[in-house]
Amino acid sequence: METSVALDFLGELRRTHTCGELRAAQAGQEVLLMGWVHRRRDHGAVIFIDLRDREGLTQAIFHEDIDPAVHQRAEEVRSEYVIAVEGAVKLRSPGTVNPNMATGEIEVVASKIWILNESRTPPFPVEDEVGVSEDVRLKYRYVDLRRPRMQRNIILRSKISFAVREFLYAQGFLEIETPFMTRSTPEGARDYLVPCRVQPGTFYALPQSPQIFKQILMVSGFDKYFQIVRCFRDEDFRADRQAEFTQIDLEMSFPQQERVFEVIEPLVQRICEVAGFRVETPFPRLTYAQAMRHYGSDKPDRRIPPMHPVEDLLPKLANAGMPLVAIHIPGSGAPTRKERDEFKAYGQERGLRVYDDSKRLERDYPGPMAQVRERCGAGENDLLFLATWAGEPKGHRPEETVYLACGQLRLYCAQKFNDRHKLLDPTNFQFLWVVDFPMFEWDEEESRWNAAHHPFTSVHDEDLEKLTADPARCRAKSYDLVLNGVEMGSGSIRIHRRDVQTQVFAALGMTDEEAHRRFGFLLDALEYGAPPHGGIALGLDRLVMILAGETSIRDVIAFPKTARGTDLMCDAPSAVPERQLRELGIGLLGHGK
Ligand code: AMO
Repeated sequence: METSVALDFLGELRRTHTCGELRAAQAGQEVLLMGWVHRRRDHGAVIFIDLRDREGLTQAIFHEDIDPAVHQRAEEVRSEYVIAVEGAVKLRSPGTVNPNMATGEIEVVASKIWILNESRTPPFPVEDEVGVSEDVRLKYRYVDLRRPRMQRNIILRSKISFAVREFLYAQGFLEIETPFMTRSTPEGARDYLVPCRVQPGTFYALPQSPQIFKQILMVSGFDKYFQIVRCFRDEDFRADRQAEFTQIDLEMSFPQQERVFEVIEPLVQRICEVAGFRVETPFPRLTYAQAMRHYGSDKPDRRIPPMHPVEDLLPKLANAGMPLVAIHIPGSGAPTRKERDEFKAYGQERGLRVYDDSKRLERDYPGPMAQVRERCGAGENDLLFLATWAGEPKGHRPEETVYLACGQLRLYCAQKFNDRHKLLDPTNFQFLWVVDFPMFEWDEEESRWNAAHHPFTSVHDEDLEKLTADPARCRAKSYDLVLNGVEMGSGSIRIHRRDVQTQVFAALGMTDEEAHRRFGFLLDALEYGAPPHGGIALGLDRLVMILAGETSIRDVIAFPKTARGTDLMCDAPSAVPERQLRELGIGLLGHGK
C-alpha cells in the first residue's frame, strides 16, 4: 500500500523524555520526543502540535521563519500520526501558560521532525467523551485504548497487580502457576473445552478456577500460595462478568477464617491506596443470616442503612407468620403518589405485599410505628415503609424469599431516589465480610442440593451431623468479601479429610463412582497427609472496575469480549476449516458452515 506522506525511519533516534515530563526547570534543554499527534493547529506561519504518549501531552511549535522545510513537514501530519520532534524547551509567555496541562509551562520549539507512521482518520477521537457505541470502541480497541480514561484504567490495573505481588511476597506467599489445560474444576458454570488431537475424543477443560490445584499445593507443603490467574467460565455475561477473568487467588495452610482475613484486609487496603483511596480495617463481619435479615442480600450495600424485621411490633401486618420488614431510605423525602405506586408495583411483582402509605400506618398504629421509626433510626425526611409476603410461604428457608424480595425493593428505591439522598456515592467504599453461609442451596429444577460455595468447603464443626439430617440449616466455613453490593471475593476453609469430603459429595447426591471419576485425584491426595487449609479468590477485574469508577469490567480489561462472548477486534470465536476439525476427530451437528 502506498503511504500518503513520505515516511522516515526510526534509525538510531532515541527519546530523551516522555511527553508528560518536561517542566520549567528544563527550559533551554535540547530534547527529542516521540508520540502520537493528538491535535494539530495550523495558524499559517506557526503550527502547534500536541504530542501525546502514555505519560501526557507536550506542545511542539513549528515556525515557518525558523525552518520552512520543517514547518512544511509539520503541515503534512494529521491526527494520530506517529512522529518524533527535536527542539529546544522554551518557557511559555505568561498569557499562554496552560494550567490544565502538566507540561503547560513550556513548549518545544521544533528544529526537526520525523514522520514515523501515518494513520487513517480514527473512527472516533482519542478523548474521554466519544459519541460512538461500545461495539465500535471494541472493534477499534487499539484506538480506544489510547483514550486517557482507558490508559488510566489499564495503568491502574497494572499498578494494582504489581502491588499485590509485592504485598504477598512480603507475607511469605509464593506465586505458583497451575495448568490451563486440565480437567473440569467446577465453580458452578459450564466449562470451555479444548479437544486433544493426539487422543481423539478426549478434551481438556479450561479451569473455572485453580481451586483443586491450589489445595493440592497445600498437600505438597508449599504453605502459602498465590497466583494472579485467568479463569474461564462459560456463563451468561453481564457488566461484571466475563468469560475469561482474573482472580487474585490464594491459599494457606493451617489458617482459621480470621487468619485469611488478616492477610486480605491489609492487602485490600494497599490496593485501594494504589488507587488513591483510604479504607479502614478491620472490615465489619456479618453472618449470612444477618445479611439476609438486614439487607435482603448476601452482597449488602452498606452505603444504604439496613432494613429491620418488625413483625414483633406489628404482628397483624405480617402475612402467614412471615417476616414484616421496615425499609428505610434516609433523605429521600416524602414520595409522590406516582412514586409510591411505582415501588409498590415493583414489590408486588416480586411477591410482596407493600404497605407504602406511611402516613396512614402512623395514623392507624401510632405506638408501634413510633417504635419502628426508632428501630430504623428514621427521621422526618426519610422514606419509611413496610412489606411482607403476599402469598403462601415457599422454599426451604421461606423467610429468605421475603428478605430477598425486600432487599431488591430497597435497592430499587435507593437507586430511584439517589439524586435526592446521594447515598450511592461510588467513592464511598464500604467493604464487609459475609460469613457462615449455608453449606447447600436447593436446586428446584434438579430437585437436589447444590454446594452453595463449592463442594470442597468445610462444614461448621458443630453442624457436621446436620449434613444429612438438616442440610438446609447446615453452615459452611465460607466467606465473601463484599464491596458496595458487589461480590469482590469468595473463599472458605476447605475439607482436608477424605472421610468428610466423601460425606459431602454424598450429601450432594454424588455416587462414589461419580465422585471418584470426577475428583478421584483430590480424594487420593487427601489420603496423603493433607494439612488443614483454606483460602480465597478476589476478582481483580471487579476490584479495578470499582476503584477506577467504572460500571463495566470491560472498561478495565484490555481486550474484553462483548455480552455475547465475541472479541470484535479479532472476530473470535470463529469457524475453523473442515480439515482442522477432521484432525481432531470432530464433526459438527449442523451448526458449522
Ligand atoms: P468464586 O467463583 O466465588 O470463587 O470466584 C471468586 C471471585 O471471582 C470473581 N468472579 C468473576 N469476575 C468476573 N467475571 C466472572 N465471570 C467471575 N466469576 C467470578 C468474583 C468472585 O468473588 N475457587 C473459589 C475461590 C476460593 O474458594 O478460594 C472461586 O473461584 O469477584
